[in-house]
Amino acid sequence: MDGLDYSEHLIAKARARGTGPLLKYTRGDMRRLPARWTGRFDAVLNLFTSFGFFTDPGDDARVMREFSRVLKPGGVLVWHGGSRDGVMAKFLSRDWWKAEDGTMIGHERSFDPLSGILTIDTAWEGRSGRGTRQHRIRLYTATRLAELCLEAGLVVEQAYEGFQERALRRQSSEMLLVARRPY
Ligand SMILES: C[S@@+](CC[C@H](N)C(=O)[O-])C[C@H]1O[C@@H](n2cnc3c(N)ncnc32)[C@H](O)[C@@H]1O
Repeated sequence: MDGLDYSEHLIAKARARGTGPLLKYTRGDMRRLPARWTGRFDAVLNLFTSFGFFTDPGDDARVMREFSRVLKPGGVLVWHGGSRDGVMAKFLSRDWWKAEDGTMIGHERSFDPLSGILTIDTAWEGRSGRGTRQHRIRLYTATRLAELCLEAGLVVEQAYEGFQERALRRQSSEMLLVARRPY
């Protein structure tokens, strides 16, 4: 088994947590998976919102083609992340809560329907200090993601409400899609 991430820091954390000898970590960019991985995997897992990070949507399409390239014929992609339809159905422009150590954390969200980009501004304040941070992510509908899969040679066979054993619904804010590379 192989795991790939762009962040050395997060790979070091995962290694420190100890995931056993079967899992090997590689630092890399998902837009350019290693050439030696072509046709190597029975499954590719892209979980916990690890998609939609690039300014150019063509890069997301490229990532999908890379997932397809590294799968064996008959292999599956398991994709998990936000579902734009569901996130829009319960859009929260702001919320805040208190963390266990008493730190107050607030989020402000805005959404651009043309690019599909969700911008989240986070602010926190507590005993350990205060700070702000912004991050952006492109949200996809299941429909558009299935098209991206097809363009990359993958066929979506199943769609769930995140990790629930329930079919994806309009209001599901998370989705899990299973797409196969045909034989
Ligand atoms: C929300 S986290 C999910 C982490 C991990 N997949 C998990 O299941 O816990 C998104 C991850 O994508 C990684 N990432 C961002 N851009 C990347 C890229 N171009 N190539 C590979 N990984 C990337 C980040 O470093 C981060 O670890």
